[in-house]
Formats: sequence, C-alpha cells, structure tokens
Amino acid sequence: MIKLDFSYVKKDQLVNFADYKDKIKDLDNIIRNKLGAGNDFLGWYSWPNDYDKEEVKRIKIKAQEFIDNYDTLVVCGIGGSYLGANAVIDAINGLYPSNKMKIVYLGNTLDPNYTHQVLEYLKNRNFAVCCISKSGTTTETSVSFRILKTMLEEKLGKDGARKAIVCVTDKEKGALKTLANNEGYETYILPDNIGGRYSVITAVGLFPIACAGIDIDEFLNGCKAAMEKYDNPNILKNDAYKYALERYYLHTKLNYKVEMLCSYELRFRMLNEWWKQLFDESEGKDGKGLLTSSVVFTTDLHSLGQFIQEGSKILFETVIYIDNPTYDVTIPYDSENLDGLNYLADKTLSFVNSKAYEGTLKAHSEHGNVPNIRINLDKMDAFDLGELLYFFMKACAMSAYLLGVNPFNQPGVEIYKKNMFHLLGKKGY
Ligand code: PA5
Repeated sequence: MIKLDFSYVKKDQLVNFADYKDKIKDLDNIIRNKLGAGNDFLGWYSWPNDYDKEEVKRIKIKAQEFIDNYDTLVVCGIGGSYLGANAVIDAINGLYPSNKMKIVYLGNTLDPNYTHQVLEYLKNRNFAVCCISKSGTTTETSVSFRILKTMLEEKLGKDGARKAIVCVTDKEKGALKTLANNEGYETYILPDNIGGRYSVITAVGLFPIACAGIDIDEFLNGCKAAMEKYDNPNILKNDAYKYALERYYLHTKLNYKVEMLCSYELRFRMLNEWWKQLFDESEGKDGKGLLTSSVVFTTDLHSLGQFIQEGSKILFETVIYIDNPTYDVTIPYDSENLDGLNYLADKTLSFVNSKAYEGTLKAHSEHGNVPNIRINLDKMDAFDLGELLYFFMKACAMSAYLLGVNPFNQPGVEIYKKNMFHLLGKKGY
C-alpha cells in the first residue's frame, strides 16, 4: 500500500492540482489511447493484465530448476536489463539471505577489476546465467556473456552449459536471439512495445526475481493493483499523477533542478538506481528535465545532509518511508550506561529510525525550506514493491508528457556508443 503526502511541502511550493485538471485529463487520454510520442512503447501500461501467463509458468519452472541445481545466478545485463531486478531482489532479500540462490551481476560494466573479481568468485561457485538484452547487441552485456558462456562450456561441456543458460531478448531479432536459437537456450521475450527501463514487470525482472526466491505472482499482483488504483484521469483522484504534477511544478515553475530520492532503508540503494534511470532517461532530453539524485538516510545525513539543509536551493526531496520494516532490533539496557544510551534501552531501531525520519522531515522542509514529498509504503514485500514500481512508471510517463518530451526513447545514449565503436574499429563506424 502506497500513501502519498504533501504535508511537508509548503503552501507556496505546492501546485494547485485543480488548475491542471484538464491538462492532465488530456495527457491521460494520450497515454491511455497511445496517441503521444513513443506510443508504441506503452506495452507496460496494461502488462499486469496482458502478460503471457504461459511464459510466467515456464519462468517459474526454470527458476525452480536453477534453485535446485545451482547455488548462484549471474544476471548479465545493463541499464533497464538489470536494474529493476536488482532493485527488487535487494529490497526484499537484503543482506545474506538464507537458503537463497546468490544473485550476482555482470554485463553492466566494462570495468576490468570488477569483472575479474566476479569471474574469480564464480570459479568456486556452481553458477547459472541469465543473459538479458533487448537489442542483443549491447557491448557490455555481449562481452560478459561471451566470457561466461566460455567458462560454463569449459566447466560443464556444451550440454551442461545449455541447461545452465537462459536468455531474455527480442522475440525474433538481434544477435542474442540468433545465438540462443543456435545453441538451444531457453528464452523469454522482452516485448517490442516495452522499453528497458519499463521492463522489470516482464521476464527481464521476473526471471531473476523468481530465482531469488521471491513470489513473482505477488509482484505482478502489486503491479496490477497499482494499474487499477492509478487508472483515473482525474488528477484529484490519482496519486501517481499528483506526484508527477508536483515534481513538474517544482521544476518548471519554481525552478528546482534536482529531485533527490531519499529512503531510510539501505536495501533501497538499487531501487534508487532503478528510479534514477527511469526518470533521467525518460525526461533528460531536448535540453529539459530534472536531474535525479538519491540518498539513504540516516547514513547520508552524515554526508550530503549538510548540503540539503543549508546548501544552494536547487533540490527537493521525495522521501520513501517503510511503515513496517521486515525485521527489527531492540537496543539493550546496560547497567553501567557509560555510553549514556539508557534513555533508548528497550526501544527498537525502527522507533529510533522513525524519529530520525520525523526530525529530518521537519529540519529539511521547515528550516531548510526544501520541499519534501512523502511516499509511505506499508512494507517491503513483493506486492508493495510491484505497486511502487508501477506507480513510478505511470508517474514518469505523465511527468515526461507534461514536460513535452518522449518518455520512451533515449537517443542521447547512442552518441557515446558510436564514438566507442569507431575507436574500437567496429565495422561500419
Ligand atoms: O532503458 C533502456 O532502454 C536501456 O537502459 C537499456 O535497457 C540498456 O541500454 C540495455 O539495452 P539492451 O537490453 O538492448 O541490452
């Protein structure tokens, strides 16, 4: 369950939602009826209803086979092809999950040190691989996959490797699809009409998430609940649109340049990364867009907190808070009380965390004059995560259309690739 709240946004920083009723209704119509720029990438919109039920069954069977036969899954993908899965897996499983398949990530970098260390680690693991690439030609992913495939074939032979590899890619085109067909790998489809950063609700997210032992039906149920909950063209009744409109207002009318996503959960670090990609790649074009940034409190209150409180007034915060943490820890009583902490004895860390949260909201919004949009999440389970991710995707589509940009393309990403290919001597560059 998500709750959106603007009580820490001062009156003069808060949009009058009713003023935008017609505009939001028009843009909702554009999204709903696929009339805007990039409209052929709106497959995610009704995906929680439309998804291929047979494919999800296959995903569950193969994921269970992987869980039963391997101790590690290497997710090989970059950008939208891994961030969503990483975000959900970390948020739900956290550190050292017991009896769970270890999930490691490769194909998301050209960093030789990181790659070398992951490969060394894998030498002592019984690993399987899920390679994810929509285009099937992304350099980081393809290079890593070639290395992993070679390693598996040397270790297990061709047949053994075939059992240990699955691919998520386009249904018919791209080098990965050709390779998977030729080698006989199990494949799942990344639909034509869903872009990478909106693809966590497809096999791209579902396969790794299932391997991490997380209930993907519940995740999809959460997405579906959000799809229904935010299916309202009326801005006054749609929190996803309210969030989109307020961030648009702060940016375009009050000149804020940065939106900082804050949470009080270290498990949300990768969720922050997924969210940043979603909004920056969707909106940062045509010389427009908010820059996103992220922190995890209270950790980062001891680093960026100073800037947020007293630095230049370029940013507003969107604060995610989990009402019911999965685990809690009680602070013990100490008869000597040398650290002076007995005033907290028998209190839980979640209690202390909640007071830090309340104190920070007040400090940043009232004293620091930094608008704080609040998003409360009931708990960190598969359902709530599904709801949260869909909420952000819906808000992002609206937000980009408000800004007048195509939410679903990323033309700017190609420029570095062309230069790199030229420098690497790739044919045709
Ligand atoms: O959101 C996007 O479209 C990108 O981040 C892609 O997911 C990323 O570049 C990886 O592309 P591909 O899946 O084609 O390898």
